Amino acid sequence: MLISSEASTTFREKIPWQDGITFYVIEEVKREMNLPERVRIFDTTLRDGEQTPGVSLTVEEKITIARQLDKLGVDVIEAGFPISSRGEKEAVSKIAKEGLSAEVCGLARVLLEDIDAALDCDVDMVHTFVSTSDIQREHTIKKSREEVLELVANAVEHIKAHGVKCLFSAMDATRTEMDYLVKVFKTAEEAGADIINIPDTVGVMIPPAMRKITQEVYENVSIPIDVHCHNDFGLAVPNSLAAVEAGAQEVQVTINGIGERAGNASLEQVVMALTSIYRVKTNIRTEYLYETSKLVERLTGIRMPPNYPIVGENAFSHESGIHTHGVLVKAETFEPGVMTPEMVGHRRRIVSGKHAGAHGISAMLQEMGIYATREQVREITRRVKELGDKGKRVTDADLLAIAEAVVGEVAKQEKVVDLEEFAVMTGNRVIPTASVKLRFKDKELMGAETGVGPVDAALNAVRKVLSGVEDIRLTEYHLEAITGGSDALAEVVVKLEDSRGNIASGKAAREDIVNASVEAMISAINRIFIMREKSKKG
Ligand code: KIV
Ligand code: ZN
Repeated sequence: MLISSEASTTFREKIPWQDGITFYVIEEVKREMNLPERVRIFDTTLRDGEQTPGVSLTVEEKITIARQLDKLGVDVIEAGFPISSRGEKEAVSKIAKEGLSAEVCGLARVLLEDIDAALDCDVDMVHTFVSTSDIQREHTIKKSREEVLELVANAVEHIKAHGVKCLFSAMDATRTEMDYLVKVFKTAEEAGADIINIPDTVGVMIPPAMRKITQEVYENVSIPIDVHCHNDFGLAVPNSLAAVEAGAQEVQVTINGIGERAGNASLEQVVMALTSIYRVKTNIRTEYLYETSKLVERLTGIRMPPNYPIVGENAFSHESGIHTHGVLVKAETFEPGVMTPEMVGHRRRIVSGKHAGAHGISAMLQEMGIYATREQVREITRRVKELGDKGKRVTDADLLAIAEAVVGEVAKQEKVVDLEEFAVMTGNRVIPTASVKLRFKDKELMGAETGVGPVDAALNAVRKVLSGVEDIRLTEYHLEAITGGSDALAEVVVKLEDSRGNIASGKAAREDIVNASVEAMISAINRIFIMREKSKKG
């Protein structure tokens, strides 16, 4: 897009937002919007969210989620669709009796029996809806436009006659002819509705169109506007925000964006965009977002991808050396700054992998309470990158194992025994055999030995090669796969005893268990020799 020279001058205006961070354009474009001061959050996790294929919550689970939503500070909890089943009605009733600060709402078609089922639950609000687009009207409910208007008026009046709040939704509003849509909303308003909702039922809107529809409704109706966007094209959040830009005062959202088909607008994303970018208030206690997301993930079984914004495991994780270095110096260099992990109850993580840098690794080691010299940090980083290059995800547990092994290694200059080469032969018709070449002080020692398996053969070969120098006994051997998978990092701990009763242990972490075992053994042997040297001097 070409920006006129007049506009581009204003876009160059410097608008500082937060300590040290300057946003040049956002405040400028906000002036062209009709943003409300506050947006109400209508949570439909327990209704549309539960319509996620494969999700079915028990009454107790729904109550647990409702309590958490209340703690989070949502304005409305749509607890369910009471007419749909006995269990659903029981859940809505129980949630309504919980004494929550949030308003509790029940869904109902514009049918009196649906509305009565919701009213029976003692809800604070009934959300009534009917299809208004031609395609849905003609093929599903089979009602004329006039009949729909009558149903709307009757439903709203019935709800209001019972003294509860009424939210009216024109289902498939975004595919409804505009003049008719306005007529439907006006009918609801005249019948006493407290708020009207514009649902993008099949998720076909784009932000400018959502803005236009909302604006049109805003200009014709005087009660507050709510929006409900589906995510079929991944546009539920931008479309919801576009409606807010045009004056919508309430947004329907779900935790983790779950819901029918591709889901609804995610509460976390809408709320954080409003809070941190638009600077529009909500009642949400954002520090509970992460724990709420985790609870819903656990109870619904719908797992969030790691790269999911705000609450995904990687939302505040940094791997590349450049980013990590920047973040360690000042987090805002490679994070939005206007949103921190603390604000959403998450945590910042420096992840190790092939892009890791020594700065990041060093910070992670400090967090793990491991003191490593520069040399050791360099060696740990080298090994982490080596694993990353092989396509392996290096977990915190892997890093800990590598670091402990490297830090525990005997310094090069103190080493008496060093491994030069080793090879193992194994198979289903051969006796596992290992050959080893070691450097002992300035001598080269070589030998081979068999064993019950490749590890046993390799350790036997090391002991045999050193037998002329010292008789070493293996007293303990532990092998642990740090993370799952056949390429898991293996951690080996061995304990050895020499002929004089000196005991030492050695540790190593490698993907190859034979390698790890030999390395751990050599490490322990060096410790024994160091002990012997020290006792000679003492
Ligand atoms: O997607 C939709 O239109 C709905 C309505 C019930 C609001 O879920
Ligand atoms: Zn929906």
